[in-house]
Amino acid sequence: MKILVTGAGGQLGQDVVALFQKDPTMSVIGLGRYELDITKMEQCLHQIMLHQPDAIVHCAAYTAVDQAESNEDHAYIVNAVGTRNLAVASEKYGIKLCYISTDYVFDGQSDKPYKEYDRTDPVNVYGKTKYAGEQLVTSLTTRYFIVRTSWVYGMHGNNFVKTMLKLAHERKQLKVVNDQIGSPTYTEDLALFLYELIQTEKYGIYHGTNKGCCSWYEFAKAIMEESGLAIIVASCTTKEFPRPAPRPSYSVLDHLSIRTNGFADFRPWREALKEFLLKLGNQLS
Ligand SMILES: NC(=O)c1ccc[n+]([C@@H]2O[C@H](COP(=O)([O-])OP(=O)(O)OC[C@H]3O[C@@H](n4cnc5c(N)ncnc54)[C@H](OP(=O)(O)O)[C@@H]3O)[C@@H](O)[C@H]2O)c1
Repeated sequence: MKILVTGAGGQLGQDVVALFQKDPTMSVIGLGRYELDITKMEQCLHQIMLHQPDAIVHCAAYTAVDQAESNEDHAYIVNAVGTRNLAVASEKYGIKLCYISTDYVFDGQSDKPYKEYDRTDPVNVYGKTKYAGEQLVTSLTTRYFIVRTSWVYGMHGNNFVKTMLKLAHERKQLKVVNDQIGSPTYTEDLALFLYELIQTEKYGIYHGTNKGCCSWYEFAKAIMEESGLAIIVASCTTKEFPRPAPRPSYSVLDHLSIRTNGFADFRPWREALKEFLLKLGNQLS
């Protein structure tokens, strides 16, 4: 099977390429922004015609949640127009398209995990642009997977885990918000799910996160505990720590589609975190 990965220089894209390449029966073409700028329709058509993949794992995105509030057009150009371009090209050549989306398509007002087909209502620009991407995928392609994930971290690029570890070495105390609840997700676990999914014809919307949930404060505490760092982590409210983009206060995703389609579920978030920190520590030492 031949797979083309967009955003191959990003934190998820890099792990998707690395994992898929372990399968000798798979041919993987990872394209970063400089090889394939998804906002250019001609480039999308050209690269797809050139490589003739069976499937695209579309990891490229505008992911700066706060900056998107003041850079709305650009966020739409990448997340909506760029995704539209890939959808058109995929449909033209009969290719499966796997679009990575986000928990931020929900408004966070629920008190129970969101199912794949629950009502969406994004509260920030980033969420709106990602949702626009979903709508374009569903309206323009027939062979699609939409995989919503959340709170992503991995070996490559910047993420919350790495930020917390860096701050722990610079400060004696940290304050982290305790009123936003979600599910941290390790890129390697998500890549494994994408690897399973892309080989099927079980099209539709999926929620792909590590299992269980926590607040950012609880996540930060777990990072310190698992790393053996004695720093004090204090909790605060979102109101005390205002950001340009509002966030859903509860964006836990139920894995209905994983269950109903017979896929193996993700492991609990803390187990994944433990493994990631071990790997990161080994890499640094
Ligand atoms: N990170 C999270 O917590 C999170 C949560 C929920 C969902 N997601 C979704 O998961 C996916 C992967 O996210 P990630 O964490 O891996 O993000 P990331 O590290 O920011 O990677 C995104 C990649 O897309 C590339 N890109 C930006 N504009 C592009 C363009 N016009 N053409 C081609 N490539 C372009 C970026 O390149 P440059 O670096 O050169 O800009 C970057 O390499 C995204 O769809 C994101 O929306 C992420």
